Amino acid sequence: MTHHVHLADTGETFEVGSGETVLEAALRHHVQLPHECTLGGCGTCRVKLEQGTVHYGEFPAGLTREEDAEGYALTCQAIPASDLVLTLARRLATCSPTARERAVVKSVKPLNKDVTHLVLELPEHSDLIFRAGQYVNILLPQAGHRSFSMASRPHRRLLDFHIRHIPGGQFSSGMMQQLQPGDPLEVELPLGTFCYHEEDYRPILMLATGTGIAPIKSMIETLLDAENCPPVTLYWGVRTEQDLYLQQEILSWATRLDDFRYVPVLSRADATWNGRQGHIQDAVLQDMADALAEHAVYLCGSPDMIAAAKRALLAKQASVHHLYAEGFTQHQQSAECKHAAN
Ligand code: FES
Repeated sequence: MTHHVHLADTGETFEVGSGETVLEAALRHHVQLPHECTLGGCGTCRVKLEQGTVHYGEFPAGLTREEDAEGYALTCQAIPASDLVLTLARRLATCSPTARERAVVKSVKPLNKDVTHLVLELPEHSDLIFRAGQYVNILLPQAGHRSFSMASRPHRRLLDFHIRHIPGGQFSSGMMQQLQPGDPLEVELPLGTFCYHEEDYRPILMLATGTGIAPIKSMIETLLDAENCPPVTLYWGVRTEQDLYLQQEILSWATRLDDFRYVPVLSRADATWNGRQGHIQDAVLQDMADALAEHAVYLCGSPDMIAAAKRALLAKQASVHHLYAEGFTQHQQSAECKHAAN
């Protein structure tokens, strides 16, 4: 049985075939809906059901039961059970349409034994507008691509990436090892809806694991020396002290932000570590005596961390309307993309 979906934001209407998800039907009709993983994990495709109901083959990990009860749905997994009227839960941030560019390698240097700092330069004519937190596809010569979040602040032609070495990875273990300054690389950008929301002015709580710190760095760098910067609290979870490859730079942010608190958390600390240990969401809950209803929350890292942190923080009254998450997906993980697991 077919159903009709009406997008209240744009006035577009499209038909969804039997057994088809809302997102599949939208893309078939060339209707733009935010999405990334298409696996129900990242939450990027969240919409509000103004009218109608949906069902899921399997309840998606990227949606909480609270969100479901409030009428939110994930279009990449939701199958209409009736005609629907939807509004976009999160509007696409203002940025340029995705474009292909020929970038040039500026430098390739190790940040530690597992993570490489790759810097690319866009061509002079490039005037792309992108948002702190978005990502880039690096196109591979044979076919396919690898996706990496930008660690640098927007409005620059130089793009920074933190790339974890994945054994056997076609890019991180192969192509990247051969890169030299001056080498060309084809890239697509900007991509993704995970970005800093300056309009959401409230105390900021950020949780990152592994190289999930990269887009968080980009966001925080947009706040350095800013007037009226809200308080920022950052938790960075890694395995060992050697994985804190950005420690000194993060500590330096305290001198350029009005109110900045930083808590590194190790999951496999040795006996010499005096700081926090365990899962970062547990450290947040231990530290935050008050409810989180007044915070804007940004999460970036593995899907397991995102799912666990969302559950924990929503139980602590964090608002689904002020919670922004970016998790690498099974597909992306196998493709050595974005953020490494902690
Ligand atoms: S695109 Fe639907 S959850 Fe990721």
